[in-house]
Amino acid sequence: MKRIKSRIISNKPLSPDLFLLTFTSSGVENEVLPGNFINIEVTKSLDPFLRRPFSIFDVSEGTISVLYRVIGRGTEIMKELKPDKQIDFIGPLGNSYPISESDNFTFVAGGTGIASIHYLLKTVESSYPNSTKTLYWGAKNRYDFVLRNEIEDLCTDVLYTTEKGDLGNKGFVTDFIDIKNKTTIYACGPTPMLKSLHDKTEGILSYYSFEERMACGVGVCLGCAIMTKSGKYKYVCKDGPVFRGDEIF
Ligand SMILES: Cc1cc2nc3c(=O)[nH]c(=O)nc-3n(C[C@H](O)[C@H](O)[C@H](O)COP(=O)(O)OP(=O)(O)OC[C@H]3O[C@@H](n4cnc5c(N)ncnc54)[C@H](O)[C@@H]3O)c2cc1C
Ligand code: FES
Repeated sequence: MKRIKSRIISNKPLSPDLFLLTFTSSGVENEVLPGNFINIEVTKSLDPFLRRPFSIFDVSEGTISVLYRVIGRGTEIMKELKPDKQIDFIGPLGNSYPISESDNFTFVAGGTGIASIHYLLKTVESSYPNSTKTLYWGAKNRYDFVLRNEIEDLCTDVLYTTEKGDLGNKGFVTDFIDIKNKTTIYACGPTPMLKSLHDKTEGILSYYSFEERMACGVGVCLGCAIMTKSGKYKYVCKDGPVFRGDEIF
């Protein structure tokens, strides 16, 4: 974990409320593992005071990108960041998705969960190009399916679901999960989605990345606690964000 002073390269709108922010990374991109996140200081002012956590969407030589949705004070400020503006971030933080050799991988992304799944997909595709990689991708509406061509190129199949049915199936992404072969499931999205997925795929090895609200981001404030099945608390920032499904549900 390092504190990096960085410079914005680009901040592209991809939909009415999704943006791709790319910034310099001073070499730490080489330490990034799929599932890691960073804490971005969105402004030097005291309001909003906290850093904001974002999954690492992608890395390339000298840069890191995050895909973010504008939902509140911090992300409203991020949306206005222009190329060359200085920001700083702490990271890479958190654990990563364990990946073992396999013929078959299943990915489930809900909403901005695709941000965490994208770099995982890229890593799996480069390590196991001949494996079957099925992505179940759910969103509120079709505008959330950003960078579709790039993501489809990393997968064998992509099954789209929207809540209103304006693209793909109509309903929740977990309504359409259909697993026939031995696989490992990797998922990121709202906690109710992860719970429903787990109920429908019991017995299949799974790894879920949680997006609980965070304050300190480094295990001090205890604000990101989640209850495990054994009744003990774990902290998403320090112990996660990735957990085995059967540890939590
Ligand atoms: C490990 C991790 C990875 C994340 N990765 C991404 C990512 O890649 N892309 C992305 O867009 N977002 C991601 N998030 C969520 C992101 O951190 C929040 O959306 C962001 O901090 C909101 O900041 P804000 O100041 O704009 O919103 P605020 O003004 O703080 O809040 C606005 C509203 O959003 C709600 N809210 C804030 N944070 C969350 C949250 N974590 N979950 C649900 N509701 C929330 C608040 O309750 C409030 O109603 C991630 C969160 C975590 C913990
Ligand atoms: S956010 Fe403070 S302990 Fe996790």
